[in-house]
Amino acid sequence: MNENTTKTKVIKISDLYNDDIQYACDILKNGGLVAFPTETVYGLGACALNPAAVKKIFEVKGRPQDNPLIVHLASFNQVNEVAYVEEKHLNIIKRLTPGPVTFVLKKKGIIPPEVTAGLDTVGVRVPAHPIAQRLAQCAGPIAAPSANLSGKPSPTDAKSVIEDLFGLVECIIDAGESAFGIESTIIDLTKERPLVLRPGPVTIEELNEIFKEFGGVEFYIPKSDEKPLAPGMKYRHYAPEKSLKMVEPEKIQEYANKDVLILCTLETCEKYLRNANNVHIIGEYAKPYTIAQNLYKSLRLVDKSPYPEAVIEKLPEEGIFFSIMNRIKKAASKS
Ligand code: TXA
Ligand code: MG
Repeated sequence: MNENTTKTKVIKISDLYNDDIQYACDILKNGGLVAFPTETVYGLGACALNPAAVKKIFEVKGRPQDNPLIVHLASFNQVNEVAYVEEKHLNIIKRLTPGPVTFVLKKKGIIPPEVTAGLDTVGVRVPAHPIAQRLAQCAGPIAAPSANLSGKPSPTDAKSVIEDLFGLVECIIDAGESAFGIESTIIDLTKERPLVLRPGPVTIEELNEIFKEFGGVEFYIPKSDEKPLAPGMKYRHYAPEKSLKMVEPEKIQEYANKDVLILCTLETCEKYLRNANNVHIIGEYAKPYTIAQNLYKSLRLVDKSPYPEAVIEKLPEEGIFFSIMNRIKKAASKS
């Protein structure tokens, strides 16, 4: 385990004219680590071209060595500095950039093997968050996983980053809550057909439309006996320490006023749990992006709450709900 020995500066940034952005940028340039906001979740960044700095990310997070990092860029124009883009994908990448999408592409030699865990591909993403863009503009490509300790839910605000990384990194930028709250959609473009490795804010339905001329996208389901294409998929994720069980909304009232924390939508609470006091609302069913935004904070709450265990409402599996359920299933699995 890490010792908390690094002096961490937490800086609040609400506008781009703040000199502190330059401070954070200098830390990156000097081989340090900076936790920064993106529109999906907070990232833990190091200069992608500095292998020693990249190695520190793995140490600090306790991240398995075989799990590659995503390279964050300031704009679409930087993509072909780090990866090969096929002509046929150009327009689609442009259309989805900047945004909550990561493209897996054949990597160029400039990206060291420490970033990609030795793979010949690299995940690249141009975040839409202005602070993330500004950092990548001034410090160059930034290798960054989510800014949590390995296995914990990704942080969607600076408070969660501080919980995990205070004393372990040089700088934490506080720019409020992440807009989406779940990690980017990952699309592997090195295969015959575009392959979705991780569902995210841009849904499979939207991607099928965007990739129409390619016959739509495939969704990757790893076979139990093979090494998953996104190495991170094989690790336990997002899971609270306490037991978390998924429950159909109609059955959730069985847990009312028991010694169990109930995580559910506003609608389910109003329908089945009006008099229960052990409920935490995770968002509105009618506005599913609010559920994505609150999900990880709610999962972190499970371990902080006085209840010894928790249940979470089972949701449908289409549109953005599919991406949300992908995370809930992992959080509720005991493997
Ligand atoms: O929204 C996001 O993607 C956030 C923000 C900070 O950008 N980042 C993030 O990073 O979620 P991380 O490291 O927590 O998840 C990255 C996932 C892992 O499952 C990893 O295995 C996969 O992306 N990945 C990275 N590079 C890859 C590659 N070359 N091929 C296949 N999978 C890759
Ligand atoms: Mg992560």
